[in-house]
Amino acid sequence: MSAMLEIVRLSKHFPVRNGFGRQTGEVRAVDDVSFSIEKGKVYGLAGESGSGKSTIARMIMGLTRPTSGDILLDGRNITGDTGTRAYGRKVQMVFQNPGSSLNPRRTVGQSIAVPLDAHGHPRSDRTRRIVELLEMVQLPAEFASRYPHELSGGQKQRVAIARALAVVPQLIVLDEPTSALDVSVQAKVMDLLVDLGRQLELTFLFISHDLSLMRNFAQQVGVLYLGKIVETGPTATVFENPQHDYTRLLLASVPVISAEEAAMRPVIPLIDGEIPTAEQLLALRNAGGPDSQRIEQ
Ligand SMILES: Nc1ncnc2c1ncn2[C@@H]1O[C@H](COP(=O)(O)OP(=O)(O)OP(=O)(O)O)[C@@H](O)[C@H]1O
Ligand SMILES: [Mg+2]
Repeated sequence: MSAMLEIVRLSKHFPVRNGFGRQTGEVRAVDDVSFSIEKGKVYGLAGESGSGKSTIARMIMGLTRPTSGDILLDGRNITGDTGTRAYGRKVQMVFQNPGSSLNPRRTVGQSIAVPLDAHGHPRSDRTRRIVELLEMVQLPAEFASRYPHELSGGQKQRVAIARALAVVPQLIVLDEPTSALDVSVQAKVMDLLVDLGRQLELTFLFISHDLSLMRNFAQQVGVLYLGKIVETGPTATVFENPQHDYTRLLLASVPVISAEEAAMRPVIPLIDGEIPTAEQLLALRNAGGPDSQRIEQ
């Protein structure tokens, strides 16, 4: 097995300035981070807000220049080439908020056509390819003429995925791709990504603070804490036998039941803090019911 992406001692330090623009220190947003992703695999990068996840994604995409360190794609050092067109063909990203990553004035078809045109896809084949990409993400062909405001969050994220797939990339960086979606939609979008990954032999960097999603999706995980990887290894090993205190803490905050299971639990109204009898429940329902309260077991 060879690595599709190799991150070697990558760092990004941002200057901290006072009100007069004078530099008073620096934030080590990413600090000496190394990991690699095998071809066709999913690497999950976990960590709480501010731990440096998006900064790593932005450096891989060429949107932020590293302070030091190297990024190797398929064995080639591409640290200086990120952001070029040749690079964009190989690496694509799906952002957290599908609403803001799609241009509201472009139809779905026009949005998907942008990367096709940028990478010289023949114009005569454009419509066929757009329909094919929509099919891949399980959207009907007529969605090509719709505008983003006519779509649900999950549908918008499918369009963003179709757009990322347009140029047949090798690596897709997913920065919290489902965190803006309802739990039930989250699972569907994740399933779609897994299927597409298998079909198209894609490699994924999957960034999330949701460890329960990672458990089902990633073969390897890395736990980021204040810009450093404090633990990395096969997902099952890290989950079953966490070595670092911070990983244990993150795992402890994952509920035993999944959020999806929680969402499917019945909402039971309480009467004076007590669980009502079946008759009371029926009477309440007929009367419209008081404000319901979810009961945690
Ligand atoms: N352009 C910037 N200038 C200065 N500091 C920055 C900049 N971008 C990020 N940072 C800082 O770097 C650190 C890491 O931020 P980053 O966005 O990578 O975190 P994250 O793990 O993606 O968080 P979240 O889960 O909230 O998305 C934070 O302390 C942030 O304030
Ligand atoms: Mg982020």
